[in-house]
Amino acid sequence: MSPQAHETPTEAREMPTEARETPPEAHEAPNLDFAGTTPYEDYVQADVLTHLQQLRSDDPGEMVFLVTTQVMELWFTVIVHEWETAARALRSDDIPVAVAALKRSIRELEALNHSWTPLAGLTPGQFNSYRSALGEGSGFQSAMYRRMEFLLGDKSASMLVPHRGAPRVHAELEKALHEPSLYDEVLRLLSRRGYAIPAEVMERDLSKKYEPSPEVEAVWAELYSGDESGELARLGETLTDVAELVWRWRNDHLVATRRAMGSKTGTGGSAGVAWLEKRATKNVFPELWTARSHV
Ligand code: HEM
Repeated sequence: MSPQAHETPTEAREMPTEARETPPEAHEAPNLDFAGTTPYEDYVQADVLTHLQQLRSDDPGEMVFLVTTQVMELWFTVIVHEWETAARALRSDDIPVAVAALKRSIRELEALNHSWTPLAGLTPGQFNSYRSALGEGSGFQSAMYRRMEFLLGDKSASMLVPHRGAPRVHAELEKALHEPSLYDEVLRLLSRRGYAIPAEVMERDLSKKYEPSPEVEAVWAELYSGDESGELARLGETLTDVAELVWRWRNDHLVATRRAMGSKTGTGGSAGVAWLEKRATKNVFPELWTARSHV
């Protein structure tokens, strides 16, 4: 590539020939000359990403509501990817790869949770300025959030119903419904390592919500009563970090909702805050919490 290629076309035209021939700093400047779209665009698709903001109202505050929701969808996508990686690794007894993916997801959950900041102080007046433009649209209809919940063991066939009209989304969700969750894979691994995971847990209907088991609680209590630096106890703590951060997302959502709309009904048709309160109290990986009383 010629040295001139590093200059802007205007600079190149205005400079005398001798100056153009010896610009030492030119080699340090980024390349400006590409035949088609930039390699950055080809990889990131920023042009697509930054033109996905189809606003429904004239309210200037709607943009950050929409973009925050889109940013969260992207984080959900990354986190699903990490948990699927972790589940696959556990299936092949590769705990280090599983833990690395889970640890990445912990940082990502923290970033996800921080992205509440722009909406955390939304007032009812501000939210009302564009709320009616959302129609019946609600985060409840987020398929990627549902995949996160399925991976955590919170399965429900009825959550597929809203997606009947979107074949790809429906197929992905249906596959996830019937696959072992991340927690199922953890318990299968514990069983292979000789821990007494009961048959009804091992052979459970994977498409149903995971129900806590006293025997599984006893296994975690045993693991936590032993060497805390052991591989399985550390896996338990990593999963507990994940569980806590999911719980925090739910609670931050609940508080933002309470601030923005009090006890009005949701755009998705639920009782709103009262419904979210019930959802937010659910424990992720339940026995990892209850076992602590027995250590
Ligand atoms: C502060 C603004 C927000 C308010 C007032 C709000 C309100 C609500 C309400 C009332 C529900 C219950 C279902 C319904 O009837 O609609 C809900 C569910 C939900 N929202 Fe939001 N939301 C807000 C922001 C967000 C954002 C930015 C996301 C990110 C994707 C999101 C994701 C969800 C999800 C995933 C559910 C389903 C939760 C579950 O199934 O347990 N929400 N929201």
